[in-house]
Amino acid sequence: MGNGQIASLLNALASLLGDSRCLTDEASKHHFGRDWTRFCEPDPVAILFPESITEVQQIIALARRFEVPVVPSGGRTGLSGGAMAAQGELVLSLERMNRILASDTASKSITCQAGAVTAAVQEAAKQMGLMYPVDFASSGSSQIGGNIATNAGGIQVIRYGMTRNWVSGLKVVTGTGELLDLNKGLMKNNTGLDLRHLMIGSEGILGVIVEATLQLCSPPQDTGVAVLGMPSMPAIMSLLERLQAHSTLLAFEFFSDLALEKVINRHGVERPLTTACPFYVLLEYEHSGPEAEAVLLELIESAIDAGTVVDAVCSQNMAQARALWRLREDISETIAEWTPYKNDISTSVSGVPSLIERIEVIVGQRYPHFEVVWYGHIGDGNLHLNILKPDSMAVDEFQRHCKIVSAELFQVVKDSGGSISAEHGVGLLKKEFLHYSRSAEEIALMRAIKRLFDPDLILNPGKVFDLH
Ligand code: MLT
Ligand code: ZN
Repeated sequence: MGNGQIASLLNALASLLGDSRCLTDEASKHHFGRDWTRFCEPDPVAILFPESITEVQQIIALARRFEVPVVPSGGRTGLSGGAMAAQGELVLSLERMNRILASDTASKSITCQAGAVTAAVQEAAKQMGLMYPVDFASSGSSQIGGNIATNAGGIQVIRYGMTRNWVSGLKVVTGTGELLDLNKGLMKNNTGLDLRHLMIGSEGILGVIVEATLQLCSPPQDTGVAVLGMPSMPAIMSLLERLQAHSTLLAFEFFSDLALEKVINRHGVERPLTTACPFYVLLEYEHSGPEAEAVLLELIESAIDAGTVVDAVCSQNMAQARALWRLREDISETIAEWTPYKNDISTSVSGVPSLIERIEVIVGQRYPHFEVVWYGHIGDGNLHLNILKPDSMAVDEFQRHCKIVSAELFQVVKDSGGSISAEHGVGLLKKEFLHYSRSAEEIALMRAIKRLFDPDLILNPGKVFDLH
């Protein structure tokens, strides 16, 4: 687009939204033009803040007329570059469309605008005596629209599943500016293809999510949190099996000693256990009273006696439970300063130990001097492998190194029947590796579907897959 065209576009947008909702200053473009990934620099044309569905439709109409791409944007907590605007795009921020529109106790649901922050929805559900169970460390800033666009998972997937399980209605503005009202909050609706599920996890390439109806559930009775020192991966997996046979787990997370060390050094907190172990498990469990809890604690004690668990610490109150959770939830933010090459892979739960073993061989051989931090939602087979950039290495060079290892890594993931992205999505960072998880036929169908919803190819182009 020439300078004259850009000026006309910006004029049209400013008269639609007013100057305060069409920002073009460098600081705003830098702030809103990127998510949590740090591998490329943002370079959007403008940041737009619509306040209604009609304004979203008008923005899309202008984008089509001027043939300028649009990046739908939520809390920008994504980790795959799905919300990056690095090529002269319009960033369409849903930040001002953040209202809770309706609470329906009989249907156990909440309807909200896409820009509602996850924690605000969780709080609104709590006020109804219910719970929105999708939860993660970024719930204070992530937005519902972004969660849906990435089918966000989080820390309680083992118990409640992913975002997809909780979306009963969606309003979406497509690339033609059409408003789709999908499934309308119904529990049962067998009337042909369910387009709602195409939109969930579509990473902004098919439409702009503007409203959602979310299902809620009853909160668990009593809960407890424990951190266990573990001698090995197989020990972690057999513990998971035993615990699941005797209790209801809300979360079963793991992290390596290096991950713990980074968090402890950053926050100056005490080690949870006196003995350092190769791995730790953080588990949260639901129980119906002291007797039920005692069964679980006895199980952990007998595992310590048998040497399959090294040591354990259990929360006695909410404050302790929070402190234990922080050891796990603070890992991502703590290691961000090393510009980590993040991987978000999954395999079947039983396939986890051998997958980790094979990956450690690859990374150890290729990059014996890189620090590798493991953590993740191991109870559902989702592992976060983070390779830290050595301080002395430039970002570009580090990325080049990591890309080489990625191909080998993803081949191993593929061989294990797993996925190259369990929860962060494909975005920009994983698109060249999509074929390790999806067949050529599937990708061809995805491209065809993209063209149906977005014939002018203005919605988040270059994300998930290229069109040629
Ligand atoms: C997590 O599990 O902490 C999040 O997915 C973020 C991350 O992987 O770094
Ligand atoms: Zn995660």
